[in-house]
Amino acid sequence: MSREISMKIENLVKKFGRGESEITVIDGANFTLNKGEFVGLVAPSGSGKTTLLMMLGCVLEPTSGKITIGDEVVYDNRWLVKDDRELRRKKIGFIFQAHYLIPFLNIEENVTLLPYENKESPKVVKPRVAKILEYLDMSSKMTSMPSELSGGQNQRIAIARALANNPDIILADEPTAALDKERAISVVKMLKKITREQNVTIIMVTHDDRLLPFCDKVLTIQDKKIDIKENIGEI
Ligand SMILES: Nc1ncnc2c1ncn2[C@@H]1O[C@H](COP(=O)(O)OP(=O)(O)OP(=O)(O)O)[C@@H](O)[C@H]1O
Ligand SMILES: [Mg+2]
Repeated sequence: MSREISMKIENLVKKFGRGESEITVIDGANFTLNKGEFVGLVAPSGSGKTTLLMMLGCVLEPTSGKITIGDEVVYDNRWLVKDDRELRRKKIGFIFQAHYLIPFLNIEENVTLLPYENKESPKVVKPRVAKILEYLDMSSKMTSMPSELSGGQNQRIAIARALANNPDIILADEPTAALDKERAISVVKMLKKITREQNVTIIMVTHDDRLLPFCDKVLTIQDKKIDIKENIGEI
C-alpha cells in the first residue's frame, strides 16, 4: 500500500451556536490518512461523525484548525481555496445512507451528471463510466431507471457516481445502513477493493461493528476527541 498522504487534519475544532447556547462538537482533531486506505468512523449517535465528515469534505466550515488534502492546504483557520465547490467536485466523492439517485434520470445519466457539470468531455467520461459500471457489475443496467433496481444495486450505482469524477477521497456516511447484513458486507468488500485498486482513500461512517475488521484504520470520537487506531486483525 502507498504511504503517500491523502489527508492531514490538525487541531480541527467545530463549535455550533453562540454565547450560552454554544456547543463544542469536535475539540481538536489530529490525524493523518494515507492514499489507498479504507478508514472506518464509529461513535455513538450525536457524537459528531457527520459533522467531522462534512468538514473533511469541505462542505461545513470548521471553527478553527487546518485541513490539508494531498499537498494542498485547503483550510487554515479560513478557507484557502478560491472555490470550495470546485474542490469538492474534483477531489471528493460522497456516498450517503440513502443513495439519492435522481429518480427521473437513468443510471448512466445519474453517474455522468457530475463529470459533465465539471465540463469534462463525453469522449473522456463515457469510457471511464463504462469501465466503472463494468467493475461494479452493473453494465447491463446503464439505461435502467433507479426505481427498477434493488436497494443493493442502487447503492452500487451511488458508489459508481462517487467514483465517476476520479476523486482522491470518498466520504461515505453509513452507506450500508439500508442494506441487509450480506449486502452490507459485499458493499464494504467492494469499497475496500476500490481503495486498493484505485488508490482512493475511503472514510466510512458505520454503526455496525461487524464491518470494522475490514478497515485499515478506525477513527472513534470520545469526549469530543478523535482517536485513531491501526487495525491489526485486518480481513
Ligand atoms: N447545524 C447544526 N447546528 C447546531 N448543532 C448541530 C448542527 N449540526 C449538528 N449539530 C449538533 O452536533 C452534534 C453532532 O451531530 P452529528 O450529526 O455530527 O452526529 P452524528 O455522530 O453524525 O450522529 P448520528 O449517528 O445520529 O448520525 C449533535 O449534538 C448535533 O445536535
Ligand atoms: Mg450522522
